Amino acid sequence: MAEQMAEKKDAEPPTAEPELQYIQYDPSKEEQYLPAIRQLISKDLSEPYSIYVYRYFLYQWGNLCYMALSPTNTLIAIIISKLEPHRSGTFRGYIAMLATQEAHRGRGIATNLVRMAIDAMTALHADEIVLETEVSNTASLKLYERLGFIRSKRLHRYYLNGNAAFRLILYLNEGTALKRPERGETGMDGAHDIMRLEEADIYA
Ligand SMILES: CC(C)(COP(=O)(O)OP(=O)(O)OC[C@H]1O[C@@H](n2cnc3c(N)ncnc32)[C@H](O)[C@@H]1OP(=O)(O)O)[C@@H](O)C(=O)NCCC(=O)NCCS
Repeated sequence: MAEQMAEKKDAEPPTAEPELQYIQYDPSKEEQYLPAIRQLISKDLSEPYSIYVYRYFLYQWGNLCYMALSPTNTLIAIIISKLEPHRSGTFRGYIAMLATQEAHRGRGIATNLVRMAIDAMTALHADEIVLETEVSNTASLKLYERLGFIRSKRLHRYYLNGNAAFRLILYLNEGTALKRPERGETGMDGAHDIMRLEEADIYA
């Protein structure tokens, strides 16, 4: 499986816009970037996230969040992720949000950001990376599957809008697939529960 994954990861990405700069999120620049991040993500994702959800990820795992910026520092694309021990015993990365401005899609920008997150998590010794995406999101499914993610389950009525999701997983080391008791898990994931939290829940 690891060999298959490596093969897919080496596949040529589409040509990204060369003038974009790809940078790690810097929490000291929250004022400058957070409004644009929220706007970009809320435009396309079906879940309405509170500002506390963004801060939950960006404060703790800013090192796993990357932005593509135009030469004038406009936010073009963002990936938000985290990495922590999972109850199954694995060190699990989770990609919480990924979005590219509509006018810039199809040029490999999100692929570049996902690769940066994968590389950062690999360097931190993650065992695996998971995420959920709507079953009808063909662009997202294509992007992740081309990078070696596989479908681990279908989650019925996963989103607030009633739509189903696929959980996708990328195994970063060979032993992990055997170690994880996927059957014992519920449809909800701890990481996704946090996406629905409000201030009172987080700071309780
Ligand atoms: C998913 C998303 C982040 C992809 O961003 P992007 O910068 O266009 O991504 P890339 O260019 O790296 O790759 C997109 C892939 O999807 C393909 N694609 C794009 N639109 C597609 C469509 N309607 N049907 C099928 N494939 C599509 C592209 O051809 C490309 O695959 P390829 O390289 O094999 O040709 C972007 O569409 C987006 O922001 N969508 C809204 C938010 C979202 O759905 N986020 C993911 C949910 S977790």
